Amino acid sequence: MATPHAQAVMMNFFVGLLNAKSILEIGTFTGLSAIYLAHALKRNGVAPGPDSSGFMPLTCLDMSEVFTRHALHNLDIAGLSDYVDIIVGDARQEVLNLKGCKFDFIYIDADKNSYKKYYDSILELGLLSKNGLIAIDNTALWKTVEFMDKPIDDAETAVVENIPSEDLTRKQLGRVAHDFNEYVRSDPRTEAVMFPLFTGLTFVRVI
Ligand SMILES: C[S@@+](CC[C@H](N)C(=O)[O-])C[C@H]1O[C@@H](n2cnc3c(N)ncnc32)[C@H](O)[C@@H]1O
Repeated sequence: MATPHAQAVMMNFFVGLLNAKSILEIGTFTGLSAIYLAHALKRNGVAPGPDSSGFMPLTCLDMSEVFTRHALHNLDIAGLSDYVDIIVGDARQEVLNLKGCKFDFIYIDADKNSYKKYYDSILELGLLSKNGLIAIDNTALWKTVEFMDKPIDDAETAVVENIPSEDLTRKQLGRVAHDFNEYVRSDPRTEAVMFPLFTGLTFVRVI
């Protein structure tokens, strides 16, 4: 599912505010958020094409060849394809290959059961620039609020790590999102704020 337009506009605004020069997107689908992010980079004065280390201003990760073909087509129509490289593969692995890169803005919007993995990889590999921002989508989806201030029914919600998100029930997805939110909230490495907008959008910075 594509990012809502208003959310993409909001992220486009934040990328401008940060004067970001490099972005990582995890989960690209047909390219809607990538278009808004690449547009913001162009507006920030970033030149098209690869930088000195061979990376395009916007690096996208998606495992679907079909979605990637659509995304490249849409980016082309938007006149932004020379800002974007889409790496096709499992982002849980591909993100590890980005060691040594720095991104000013990172958007996490792929499989929800791997959010903790993406988040930890980003922090452990130091992929976020100083003063950079991570945006994480869908953090209030699947009625995560139901889990607040209530005992959690483990039998209904227990989740085995590495199960594809599409094989989880809504209650399990809610539990995954809730556990991830609690993990981020109590993480001393970062400061986070969750906006109860759209399906929940969390912004994180390293402290
Ligand atoms: C919610 S969509 C992304 C929407 C996109 N940001 C937009 O605004 O249009 C999630 C995407 O994550 C991709 N995805 C899911 N699991 C993945 C994984 N393990 N590695 C890479 N991509 C993955 C899917 O192929 C899908 O395109």
